[in-house]
This record gives sequence, C-alpha cells and structure tokens, in this order.
Amino acid sequence: MLVSAKEMLDKAKAGHYAVGQFNINNLEWTKAILLTAEETKSPVILGVSEGAGKYMAGFKTVAAMVKAMDESLGITVPVALHLDHGTYEGTKACIEAGFTSVMFDGSHYDIEENVAKTKELVELSHKNGISIEAEVGAIGGEEDGVVGMGECADPDECKRIADLGIDMLAAGIGNIHGVYPDNWAGLSFETLDAIQQKTGAMPLVLHGGTGIPDDMIKKAIDLGVSKINVNTECQLVFAAATREYIEAGKDQQGKGFDPRKLLAPGTEAIKAKVKEKILLFGSDGKA
Ligand code: 13P
Repeated sequence: MLVSAKEMLDKAKAGHYAVGQFNINNLEWTKAILLTAEETKSPVILGVSEGAGKYMAGFKTVAAMVKAMDESLGITVPVALHLDHGTYEGTKACIEAGFTSVMFDGSHYDIEENVAKTKELVELSHKNGISIEAEVGAIGGEEDGVVGMGECADPDECKRIADLGIDMLAAGIGNIHGVYPDNWAGLSFETLDAIQQKTGAMPLVLHGGTGIPDDMIKKAIDLGVSKINVNTECQLVFAAATREYIEAGKDQQGKGFDPRKLLAPGTEAIKAKVKEKILLFGSDGKA
C-alpha cells in the first residue's frame, strides 16, 4: 500500500537504521525497486524529480502507474511515493496528483522565504495526509540542471525549519549529487552532529547517496540520518549492464532486440544495487 513516509521514518530514527529513497525513471525502475523492497521486507521510498516526472508524462501518470503496480505486484511493504527537490508549484501539483510524500526544496531562497513557503506547504501536505521534507543548505552537484556547491547547513536555521512541523529534514553536510570528485572532503560529521543536537527526534535525510563510502554511511546513520537518497548509482549500473548486453551483440541474436530482453540486464542490475543498499542501510526485515 502507498503510505506517507512519516511512520516508516520515525521508526527508522528510533531503530537506528535508514530507509532508502531510490529515484525512478520509468516502469522498469519502479518494478525493480518495488520487487526488491518486497523481497527484503523493507519499507521503501520511490523518489521522483520534477524532470523525471515530466519525462514520465506528468505526476498524475506516475501516481497512477505506481499505485496500480503496487497493487498488481501484491506489494505488502510500506511504499511512499515522494517528490524529490520540489519547487513550490511542483509540490502543490504532486499533492493534487496523489503522491503520498513531497519534498519542498526552498534552500535557494533566503531563510525567511524558505520558512514562509515551507510553513504553507506543511499545512497543505498534512491536510492531505502527506508527509513533507524540507531542505536547508543546498546539496552540491547537479540535479535537473541546477548546480549547487555542497554547503554545510546552519544548525539554527535547521531548527527553525524543523519546528515548522515537517516530517524529515534534508540538511547539507558537504554531500553532493552525482559521482563525488576525487578531491571531495567527505561528509561533515561535526555539522551533522550539531544539527542532530538541535533537531532531536526529527528524521534527517542524506542526499547524494551515490559513492559515499560504507563507513561514512554507517556513521551518518548513527548520528541521526534516517533516509538516504540514491539515484546516480542505479543509473550507472543500468547503463553498464545494458552496454555489456549490446556490446556482446546479444540484441542481434534471435529476438534479443525485444525491449523486454534488452532492458532485462539493466533491470536486474538495479535490483542488485537496491538490495545492496537496503542491507547497508539496515532497513531489511523492518517492514
Ligand atoms: P545521487 O544521484 O548522488 O545518488 O543523489 C540522489 C539524491 O540525492 C536525490 O535527491
């Protein structure tokens, strides 16, 4: 069943593990993630960026596909359909389209405007039974054409946003979307600790999960991270498996060009990656 992300994240925070947010791009992606969550008995969050939503013919199409697939596959674990890095308008559109969770990313506004817009969207989300994530301190890297530098959030600003009644907080701690550059300084655990001290029971979100070493992931979970977003890593393994299939000439053998065959190795690669992350985050068996 599709649910708000609130309960699964509160449980994760209390139980010292993290729920994975895996971004979806199409039907294969969605199916691979749902089946792996079911196999590992893990709660899961399906992330949809505004760009991916547009690509999949709009938020309503996405919500209808995910709801129908969740039912048809007989998924029993809690699944949240979550907008990733929403604009003010996009957040409203997803609430209307039937998403069960949203992220409003007001981190590029000054703090007063971020507070005002987040406050309004918290009320709207909760009126509709939907969980809401907010962001303080821009996450670095590129997301749908927007490039940020990987800031460390101000813990006092984090507290102000957390106090608005949001359900999860994304705070920059030196993390970056996409592959980390060789000279990356690593996560700032000092910042994370200070944010955790100020925000207490609030589930914290770690964006840019791709390429963060396992020991840093575990330490971040110890320090209060309850949701970890992974996108690029699934794209990379999907592309590599598909390339291998084509380079081996398998698309030219028999009916190897059939999309159900052509996309199968990539889909299996996503399943393996998602399973690896679920085990690392410790959410297996927690559904
Ligand atoms: P990566 O693409 O680096 O895994 O980040 C995903 C993310 O944070 C989505 O919001």
